[in-house]
Amino acid sequence: MVIGYQTLKGFMPRRNIFLPTLCIVLLIAVWAFRAPPSSVEKWIDTSAIRGATPAKAPSSSGPPTQYGNGNGNDVDLSAPDAPFVGWPLRRVCDEANWVEGLVYICDNNSGGIGNIRNYIQTCIRYGIEAGATGLLLPRIRKRNETDLADLFTDYLPFDYMFDERHFRDAFAANCPQITLYDDIKDIPGVGSKPAVEHITPKKFGNRDGCDWRDQNRHTDRFGDRFRKWLHDAKGSGRPAPSATHPRLIRFDWGVLWDWLTYRDGPEFANTFGGILRFNDQLLRLGKATLENMHAFARANGVEDGRFLGVHLRTESDALGFWPTYNTQTDAYLKQATKRGFEVAYIATGDSLEAQNFAGAAIELAQMRVVTKADLLDDDDYAELESLTWDQQGVIDFIVLLGSDFFVGTMPSSFSVYMAMKRHLKTGGVYTRPYKVGTEGDGLSYLVGNYEKYWEGWLFMWDGMWP
Ligand SMILES: *[C@@H]1O[C@H](CO)[C@@H](O)[C@H](O)[C@H]1NC(C)=O
Ligand SMILES: *[C@@H]1O[C@H](CO)[C@@H](O)[C@H](O)[C@H]1NC(C)=O
Repeated sequence: MVIGYQTLKGFMPRRNIFLPTLCIVLLIAVWAFRAPPSSVEKWIDTSAIRGATPAKAPSSSGPPTQYGNGNGNDVDLSAPDAPFVGWPLRRVCDEANWVEGLVYICDNNSGGIGNIRNYIQTCIRYGIEAGATGLLLPRIRKRNETDLADLFTDYLPFDYMFDERHFRDAFAANCPQITLYDDIKDIPGVGSKPAVEHITPKKFGNRDGCDWRDQNRHTDRFGDRFRKWLHDAKGSGRPAPSATHPRLIRFDWGVLWDWLTYRDGPEFANTFGGILRFNDQLLRLGKATLENMHAFARANGVEDGRFLGVHLRTESDALGFWPTYNTQTDAYLKQATKRGFEVAYIATGDSLEAQNFAGAAIELAQMRVVTKADLLDDDDYAELESLTWDQQGVIDFIVLLGSDFFVGTMPSSFSVYMAMKRHLKTGGVYTRPYKVGTEGDGLSYLVGNYEKYWEGWLFMWDGMWP
């Protein structure tokens, strides 16, 4: 069985453009029977252009012209190497209230790729709102490879996972008010013993009546309140920052999923994540693996190379209340059967569980399953082996992004990020929020418990920039 829209392959918007286009074609056909030929041709030309635009984005409600110049909606933001669409960031930066000598330090970023990204992005988003004119280039905490739940070993440089050039260019082009520093020592006026102040941004929210876990409902109030504290020596106990006397701010650990991303509008929510692009090595190896996956599917009789992407999250650091191996496997194989997949790619950091799943998939769904290690040979395999556990997770991420349907699990931030990133296919820059817990966009399904906002970690969907 083949689901119709899934046969349209590649990085194209799928069902959302197909139906409107069909309607337009039918309208044109009906109209053509009733009008004289000469005017029909003229009408078709312009209507085809006019008709195609609203299906993707409401061009009339696009950005103000100084941010226009092509609004970037022709870019497929779900591609791992999508170009950065910078005007929403530029607009946010143009609206900020900049403070000389204020520097944000976003360097305690840990966990897997979903968490690391959110730590960095949340911290930078707050930093812009605060008016920080300086930013230390983010670093990443290395996970302990023998104790996967230990997330805080060495500090690794930004390019451990991300493309530093791309990050710098994104800020230079769109947020030139911010200076990026490689090292605390490089910050002017910092002295030999830099004092770093720790804050929790929620303490600057209007929180009367909130659940203590609630995100900042009014992140738009954060800037004013933070700067009031910053400039009030009684509050912070320090003089206001200046070019010669900087103030360095770091968050108390654990500030993530704290910013309600859609408050900035879909165009910012959907593009801000683009500041963090995977580094060239990970992109290259990920794409090579994806290519081999399509070849594997074709070699197994799947002509168009389509495959199911599976994220099995049962490794040793998964928490007790997460869906079990059996729950995940049942749900995934049901989707495989329902959608007629004959081959699948499985991402898991546990090779034994991958084998178990592959056995169950052949038996119960006549589906062949492979991992990245099965798909790479020689030099590529050696390169894969040289990567850390979390870097290898990025290879999985790139392959799964290219799958024809994705199944994952709540409350894994890796799975949530995947579903949100894939969802960007549906509307580009103006993509509306993913309908959590549904199969609504036809691209992904996450098994899990969607009953409780906090205990079920549904809040991740509201605080993530894909
Ligand atoms: C990693 O974890 C192991 C086992 O708990 C421990 O022996 C080792 O010292 C840890 N390594 C680092 C770098 O923290
Ligand atoms: C980084 O996070 C860990 C985890 O809670 C914490 O123990 C540590 O103090 C943090 N480091 C800094 C420099 O904030």
